[in-house]
Amino acid sequence: MKKKIYIAGCGGMLGEAFYTQFKEDYIIKCTDKDVNEDWLSFLDFRDFEAYKKDVKEFSPDYLFHLGAYTNLEFCEENADDTYNTNTLAVENAVYLANSLNIPLLYISTAGIFDGKQELYDDWDMPNPLGVYARSKYMGERFVAENANRFLVCRAGWMMGAGPKKDKKFIQKLMKQLKEGNKELFIVDDKDGTPTYTHDFAKNVKLLIEKEFWGLYNLVCGGQTSRLEVAQEMLELLDKSDEIKLTPVNSDHFKDVYFAQRPANERLINRKLNIRELNIMSDWKDALRIYLDKYYKGYLD
Ligand SMILES: NC(=O)c1ccc[n+]([C@@H]2O[C@H](COP(=O)([O-])OP(=O)(O)OC[C@H]3O[C@@H](n4cnc5c(N)ncnc54)[C@H](OP(=O)(O)O)[C@@H]3O)[C@@H](O)[C@H]2O)c1
Repeated sequence: MKKKIYIAGCGGMLGEAFYTQFKEDYIIKCTDKDVNEDWLSFLDFRDFEAYKKDVKEFSPDYLFHLGAYTNLEFCEENADDTYNTNTLAVENAVYLANSLNIPLLYISTAGIFDGKQELYDDWDMPNPLGVYARSKYMGERFVAENANRFLVCRAGWMMGAGPKKDKKFIQKLMKQLKEGNKELFIVDDKDGTPTYTHDFAKNVKLLIEKEFWGLYNLVCGGQTSRLEVAQEMLELLDKSDEIKLTPVNSDHFKDVYFAQRPANERLINRKLNIRELNIMSDWKDALRIYLDKYYKGYLD
């Protein structure tokens, strides 16, 4: 008998990979407040009564709470709405999972650290800098302190879902290339760890199957910087000679990206490594696979 998973907030970058990776082996119900696929139905998870009703009707074996506001500038300017969406809705998800006696999956972020360390493992202490990071960290804490059985998985710089849904770095650069820009301005003072959505979903699946509950860093292999990711992307696209990369510091973008970001959010999957359950690709391989799968012909 296939097990059932209710996936809330599944209409974004990560949701696309969860849908793809889980749909064969599980019976899934995917919801979002943005119904942008025929496999999604509507649920705004801030509405606790509606969330409760929808999940109970489906009667799942697992509850995956994926969605959040992910635009850091929006979060800075809309703090209460952000805490309601990213933190209080997660508290509701915990009560719901506990009342059904099922495990809960919550997605956290490498952005909860303050960037003062070189590298963060699963046990390092977060110190969030902005509203988004704080809202996610408070969600993480609530889950870890209150859910009976849970996975909290921390992603890094997300790459996934291609032009239609990728709201982050890779798509921002690809869009500029598509518009004909011959010069890209890239920050040279931000370090982190890319995370390919499909790798992430597959590794979550493995943890679910093994029932190793708890909190995990879950990022691709290797540590890098925004500048190096941009360089590698141009190499893979065979455009290094054609496009000029101009390194700038974060002040260059201070009007557009005014939310505070840690200078370093590099994670290491220490717990997964110790458990021998780390199946994440190296970030360069993941980037190559991502561009091949989602951006073929995009720049033609
Ligand atoms: N993107 C990253 O770099 C990154 C890094 C680390 C962790 N994460 C975490 O990964 C998870 C998935 O994010 P993602 O990258 O897939 O972001 P995404 O593409 O922005 O997807 C998030 C989805 O959640 C939906 N959502 C927001 N509020 C909702 C609500 N009240 N009810 C139902 N759905 C709601 C969004 O709908 P709208 O578009 O209508 O708001 C969107 O479809 C989030 O928890 C995020 O914090 C992301």
